[in-house]
Amino acid sequence: MRILFKNIEQLLQIRGPEVRKIAGVEMGELPALKNAFLITENDRIADFGPMSEIPGLTPDLEVDASGKMILPAWCDSHTHLVYAGNREKEFVDRIRGLSYEEIAARGGGILNSARQLESTSEENIYEQSSKRLKEIMQLGTGAVEIKSGYGLSSEAEMKMLRVIKRLAASYPIEVKATFLGAHAFPEPYRDHPDKYVDLICDEMIPKVAENGLAEFIDAFCEKGYFSVEQTKKIMERGNSFGLVPKIHVNQFNSIGGIQAAIELKALTVDHLEVMTDQDFTDLERSEVMPVALPSCSYFLSIPYTPAREMIDRGMALAIATDFNPGSTPSGNMNFALSTACIKMRLTPEEAINAATINGAYAMNLSHSLGSITRGKIANLILTKEIPSYGFLPYAFGSNLIEKVMIRGEFLPEE
Ligand code: NIG
Ligand code: FE
Repeated sequence: MRILFKNIEQLLQIRGPEVRKIAGVEMGELPALKNAFLITENDRIADFGPMSEIPGLTPDLEVDASGKMILPAWCDSHTHLVYAGNREKEFVDRIRGLSYEEIAARGGGILNSARQLESTSEENIYEQSSKRLKEIMQLGTGAVEIKSGYGLSSEAEMKMLRVIKRLAASYPIEVKATFLGAHAFPEPYRDHPDKYVDLICDEMIPKVAENGLAEFIDAFCEKGYFSVEQTKKIMERGNSFGLVPKIHVNQFNSIGGIQAAIELKALTVDHLEVMTDQDFTDLERSEVMPVALPSCSYFLSIPYTPAREMIDRGMALAIATDFNPGSTPSGNMNFALSTACIKMRLTPEEAINAATINGAYAMNLSHSLGSITRGKIANLILTKEIPSYGFLPYAFGSNLIEKVMIRGEFLPEE
């Protein structure tokens, strides 16, 4: 199947195949071509260029993109979208004054989701999660990372990871799996948390690896959750089975998670709402990609990741949704993009770089996704008619996407 897009108002995020991530001032540039054509062949981007150089070939389908933009589909590198039920009651509790931490201390929070997951069949979890996956595809997401972490027992964690694997096989969107057994301490281990760490290391990690259920490993490195020592132990064990660390750090407190992640050669450090001077200095000297989650700060009313300062200091940055029932019940990357601009003071160019090529890097996917590059997978957003690409973050709340293409095929209209 060959599809020709012509008269594209602006073709955005054109990069050479060698570009893996963008950092610092370069994030302020979004290479674009005005009045362009683009050709997809089966699931790949085959060619593009100015309309004056359009090749004389016969496509199977021709799309007139006059007044419209084309850009790579969003790459959402941090979600927990496999879960059961919801936590709408806790939402109201927070409106009434309780904090996220207070709700967790009462046995709510992650443990609440773990109880709901435990009593839901694998089939039903798959159905609930499929709906969310279909929703984010319609919202322009073409690649997504999904974590386990609401199982918190060997069997329930594997159940979650099997659901992620089944989603990956059933939908065209690129799905990457992360094992997050170290998300919270389950009730029976409250008084001897190290025994749970042993369970993760001795039983869960080998099972995950033997069954090829995840590529990445994560832990919630935070006061009251997993200490730096426990996080290191889990990551080192994961590493010995080939699992690459991507770690939740500095959401509420700076306890040394960034330094541990650097030492462990993590691919990403995620959250980073609380950053000390030392954290900045250490992170900017490393290759670890910071991932900011603006919708989480919005929903919990907690500080925003100091993303402006990160970019000003020359660092790279990815943005992701954190889609989960407790801190971010939204997988809308368009909202994350707007919120990154409005609340973190990213420019539209920086936010689009953070949500495409850098998001792809944060999932080990930037060789095949995240930019308009010949040979990359044809995951594209075709916008409605808009005056400029800055309208994507500017007109927050409006749906400016006309069509989403994943692996060279348009998603059916909903
Ligand atoms: O990234 N912080 C830890 N994990 C999730 C929230 C999980 C939950 O509340 O269910 C997060 O925000
Ligand atoms: Fe998260």
